[in-house]
Amino acid sequence: MSSASFLQGLFGLDGQVAVVIGGTGVLCGAQARGLAAAGARVVVAGRDAERGNAVVDAIRLAGGSATFHTVDVAERDSVETLCAAVVAQHGRVDMLINGAGINFASSYDELPEADWSRVLRIDLDGVHHGCQVFARQMSCQPDGGAILNIGSVTAHTPLSRVIAYSAAKAAVVNLTRNLARELASARVRVNALCPGFFPAEQNRAILAPERVEKILAGTPLGRFGEPDELVGATLLLLSRSAGSFITGAIYYVDGGFTAMRL
Ligand SMILES: NC(=O)c1ccc[n+]([C@@H]2O[C@H](COP(=O)([O-])OP(=O)(O)OC[C@H]3O[C@@H](n4cnc5c(N)ncnc54)[C@H](O)[C@@H]3O)[C@@H](O)[C@H]2O)c1
Repeated sequence: MSSASFLQGLFGLDGQVAVVIGGTGVLCGAQARGLAAAGARVVVAGRDAERGNAVVDAIRLAGGSATFHTVDVAERDSVETLCAAVVAQHGRVDMLINGAGINFASSYDELPEADWSRVLRIDLDGVHHGCQVFARQMSCQPDGGAILNIGSVTAHTPLSRVIAYSAAKAAVVNLTRNLARELASARVRVNALCPGFFPAEQNRAILAPERVEKILAGTPLGRFGEPDELVGATLLLLSRSAGSFITGAIYYVDGGFTAMRL
């Protein structure tokens, strides 16, 4: 067997259907492009049609297959509409990434109630909506499916000034483990990918110069991540061949941030 066909057997996703919620953004956009390059038919989903269509165009330009659908993960009905649309278009859903997320920075004392609620609604309830709605579809399919929730290093080590976000991401990790148990008999694997620090839209305001210095000092590899550096772990966790015995895993791609203490 050639090395190309060996790798294709492990990581190839030819014809499989991948829904990337939050594929409109920096990190999940890179994941969407990676899944398409591995052969998946990708559905990029999010609130921002302009950004979503730009990701779709990039995938098609590279010879891949992609379409865009609008979704607001805060609204369960919207996630149900997305799932129904994908099944109408493709007949199945093999993989889901739950990556929509927002973040606001403030001290705990000054944290507005509305910001707390909005972050929990999108970053936690949104993941729950994706898991429950798409797991119902996957569990009707003979070969099930795989879900990848996007956590964060802050699920492991709470970060100052992003307290609602930290609480939401810790809950996403707990939910992921619980659903790995809950959905195993339906042949649905559920894992979480926890990125370290990658400059993106939602954290631009949080990355003040003095904070950047502390982050890089606390990251053994001494730099920010590049979005494409999430693709390898994404393929591993979502591939039904390479990832066949992986469920309930919390996988950090963080340049060593969570390994570091002093
Ligand atoms: N960038 C980082 O350093 C980092 C680190 C750890 C975890 N993460 C997580 O990675 C994921 C992607 O974030 P990113 O950094 O690429 O940010 P991003 O802002 O580029 O992407 C987030 C996307 O989510 C979309 N979104 C927001 N609310 C939504 C809603 N209600 N419904 C549908 N879509 C919605 C936004 O429009 C945006 O396109 C998030 O879950 C984030 O928390 C990012």
